[in-house]
Amino acid sequence: MTIQEHCIHFKMMPMGVRVLYSGTLIVLGVGYLFAMIHIFDSHAGRDGNPGLSVNDLIIAYSGSKSDTKIESALKGPMANMLPPEERNEIIAWVRRGAEEKDFKSSGVEGIVERRCLVCHNGSNPHIPNLTGYKGLHSVAQADTGMDIFTLVRVSHIHLFGITFIFFIVGSIFCHAYIRPLWLKCIVLITPFIAILADIGSWYLTKLFPPFAWVVMISGALMGFAFAFMWIVSMYQMWLYKPSPALLEQEGRVS
Ligand code: HEC
Repeated sequence: MTIQEHCIHFKMMPMGVRVLYSGTLIVLGVGYLFAMIHIFDSHAGRDGNPGLSVNDLIIAYSGSKSDTKIESALKGPMANMLPPEERNEIIAWVRRGAEEKDFKSSGVEGIVERRCLVCHNGSNPHIPNLTGYKGLHSVAQADTGMDIFTLVRVSHIHLFGITFIFFIVGSIFCHAYIRPLWLKCIVLITPFIAILADIGSWYLTKLFPPFAWVVMISGALMGFAFAFMWIVSMYQMWLYKPSPALLEQEGRVS
């Protein structure tokens, strides 16, 4: 009897456990898809080009050299809140110097009241209050990216949330048969290293914009690790036929 390097294989587990694991993986997989849609939605297009690029991440975390905060928001996550003509009207007002007189005489005050105040009325402390000239003027300043308080809040949510997700998915994946063993270990540890690199780089991108690449690459690595563990676990749970050698190793056949 030797101590085995791997957890018992899915095929040796009771049907009930496999059904539980599959249900968990399916719901987490759907959650992962929604998370990716959200990332795309909140970052894509900030640089004025469609799609998600490293430049969008640089603008999100460290700000934009050419645009004010409201312009980056109107090109990015707030783009669908109003028709393009109204968006251009607001941007033109900002470019003219974001003057108070001009705010009332142009259509900007009305547009903001109609399109933005439902959410930006000050009732949610996490999004800027855009009531009145003062509110709008506060976002018509140079875009310095996400502020540190927002980053800290999002960091702790991500660190806890992602650790839970990968602990669960990794615990399930441990029951898969993967050789060489180092490959299995790399897949298991990658998301934990990636989340630390990802979150660290949000802050570092503020100091040195190329760190946005690390944000992008670590996000991709997390996605690959998730997909790999998901597919291998599901496949080995339901379709895979373990070799006689594996069965013997598990002590089921002597
Ligand atoms: C349906 C609710 C909703 C509406 C309507 C809305 N916003 Fe937002 N806005 C949000 C949320 C939530 C955030 C914070 C999350 C984010 O950045 O995606 C936000 C963030 C912002 C930010 C800060 C972005 C940053 O990078 O810090 C600006 C500026 C902004 N909105 C402007 C506007 C303007 C201008 C309008 C009207 C044309 C508008 N919003 C309409 C919900 C809304």
